[in-house]
Amino acid sequence: MTTKPSEFIQLHHASDQQLRAELSAGLLTASAYASPKYFYDALGSKLFAAICELPEYYLSRTEASIFDAYLGEIAEAVGVGGTLIDLGAGNCAKAARLFPALQPAQYVPVDISIDFLRDAVGDLQQRFPHIQMTGLGLDFSSALQLPDRVQLNKRLFFYPGSSIGNFTPDDALAFFRRLHAACGDDGGLLIGVDLIKAPVFLNAAYDDALGVTASFNLNLLLHLNRLLGADFNIAEWRHVSFFNTAQSRIEMYLEARHAVTVKWQGGERGFQQGERIHTENSYKYTTDDFVQLLQQAGFGGIRRWSDADDWFMVCHARAT
Ligand SMILES: C[S@@+](CC[C@H](N)C(=O)[O-])C[C@H]1O[C@@H](n2cnc3c(N)ncnc32)[C@H](O)[C@@H]1O
Repeated sequence: MTTKPSEFIQLHHASDQQLRAELSAGLLTASAYASPKYFYDALGSKLFAAICELPEYYLSRTEASIFDAYLGEIAEAVGVGGTLIDLGAGNCAKAARLFPALQPAQYVPVDISIDFLRDAVGDLQQRFPHIQMTGLGLDFSSALQLPDRVQLNKRLFFYPGSSIGNFTPDDALAFFRRLHAACGDDGGLLIGVDLIKAPVFLNAAYDDALGVTASFNLNLLLHLNRLLGADFNIAEWRHVSFFNTAQSRIEMYLEARHAVTVKWQGGERGFQQGERIHTENSYKYTTDDFVQLLQQAGFGGIRRWSDADDWFMVCHARAT
């Protein structure tokens, strides 16, 4: 069989000026922050793939075990031959494991880490020459405009890895509403979500003994150095993360080890010792709260699968 060439459409064209304005505003605000989407330069994407291999990071392993155990039921719920739209596809490995069961007619991986995705989809097309693949370099955090090349037939949005936890519950609801609108009547959503559990396990998952998550977090500063022309010295910062029980979320920060002044094109800021830049929230849900969120967004026919300990859940929800 001849290999179809995969195509790649780059829709993410934030101007340098826009990017710098967004990042600068985050760093200059009283409680400094940077969006977790800036973790993912080429090295950040590789570090995330390494995190998924860590013993403490139960999320990927547990989610994979649910897909392995229930793939037949999941395929039956989802149906075959549709358009599989993989949101934040990364190395595309999770979707690729579903191909034999779901037999998508078109695979549409979407990611903001454009070069990493371009390489991944090129490799995948070699392995699955019969599936039409259209990579999209796109930031889906604020809007979701899919090009006409994305087929309307049985659109299945695939959002694994509990990436939904990066949104506040209100923003997750708005995001689900956008997905619901983009699904079409015969479409749906297949999503993985991390469930609330003892904080000791949550804390370990985001602060592993090897320090890979710390490197992943600190690498954001190297990415900012390139994007902003900033002079962050990563030796002056440390990784901090903990489960905030009241908010039901992991919070991740970069904390100044001592007083430091950081300069970038068009701005500068002094950070006191112990002052932090907030880099990520990862919300954890109860089964009921998560299902309710899907229903509030207009989804129905919800099926769910979880592991024996109820640590993680995979849900399929229909547009109608
Ligand atoms: C936590 S990783 C998940 C990767 C893979 N789906 C998995 O579950 O292993 C999040 C992925 O989403 C991408 N991403 C994060 N924010 C994004 C955004 N706003 N728009 C598009 N992609 C985004 C990142 O580049 C990264 O590949």
